[in-house]
Amino acid sequence: MRRIITRGIAAVGAVALLALGTACSNDREGSTSSGGDAKGFDKDALIGVALPAKTSENWVLAGDLFTNGLKQAGFKADVQYAGASTAVADQQAQISSMVTKGAKVIVIGATDASQLSTQVAQARQAGATVIAYDRLITNTPDVDYYVAFDNFKVGQLQGQALLDGMKAKKPKGPWTVELFSGSPDDNNSKVFFDGAMSVLKPLIDKGDIVVGSGQKDIKQTAIQGWKAENAQQRMDSLLTSTYHGAKKLDGVLSPNDTLARAIITSVKGAGKPVPVVTGQDSEVESVKSIMAGEQYSTINKDTRKLVAETVNMVKSLQKGAKPQINDTKSYNNGTKVVPAYLLPPVIVTKQNAAEAYASDPKLSALTK
Ligand code: BGC
Repeated sequence: MRRIITRGIAAVGAVALLALGTACSNDREGSTSSGGDAKGFDKDALIGVALPAKTSENWVLAGDLFTNGLKQAGFKADVQYAGASTAVADQQAQISSMVTKGAKVIVIGATDASQLSTQVAQARQAGATVIAYDRLITNTPDVDYYVAFDNFKVGQLQGQALLDGMKAKKPKGPWTVELFSGSPDDNNSKVFFDGAMSVLKPLIDKGDIVVGSGQKDIKQTAIQGWKAENAQQRMDSLLTSTYHGAKKLDGVLSPNDTLARAIITSVKGAGKPVPVVTGQDSEVESVKSIMAGEQYSTINKDTRKLVAETVNMVKSLQKGAKPQINDTKSYNNGTKVVPAYLLPPVIVTKQNAAEAYASDPKLSALTK
């Protein structure tokens, strides 16, 4: 029950959320065929892919992989990114235009989880199937499927890595840490944070882990837009307010690699030793940093696999078949439980990097 709530939207009361989710998912039984899956569609149909701004390397990779993967499968592909400063409006317009052009499936990596209900309703009304990619779309019945890495698990792995890294340097606590989380408009941010806190909170409650600044609430830890400069600024001010003199910082929970590197830059700029810093995405610069013994960990979420699974879903829909899903309970978007296909994330530290990236020529070259 907890996991259903933690992975869905935060603002609704738990009981109301569950009741609503159950009611709506029952109401919609069988109605997912308002997307294309009951009838199928032409083999060379147009497939729309609306991605957010390029806030991390995984989004850059996804665009090319979708363009090539969909073309290879015989489809026409319309792959669009939202711009950095007008991302929500861009994405809304891009999805509407995909609907107008007659896209049969629209794959969406949402810029803002809660700002797409009008556009996905339009898509569904036009007979398109809507797939939420990597990030859930919230507060709408009009999302058919979700394909992502298990985001709660990502958070758990980050929390555990933070602890393991600190223990390796200093076997006994208490350890002093700071907590960072992702952009509040991305539904994943809270799920990552909740996953990490499921590991860290019991230790914080016991006093084994101390959050130096006292900033433990997700509202205090959030980094708007997943922007490196915002993370660097927050770390700069935490160092000034809390870590003057000899006060030691043992670890920082960072939700991804872009923010991890910004945090490390800030700490080094202040002339402090680099603490244990977690990450996510296996970005090239972070893998280099891990191999150099600076950033402690990252997460391998192989974008090639995630895109391939999404393209498989599109192929099933084209044939009029039900796409493969492996989770029907975890992702309540506030209106319905969205059937999901979840892939397992892998934690990576210097110790297992060579093994973890063995099948990725670009990253494995960095571990040699
Ligand atoms: C993705 C992360 C990524 C972040 C910022 C999240 O929704 O799941 O992999 O680091 O967006 O782009």
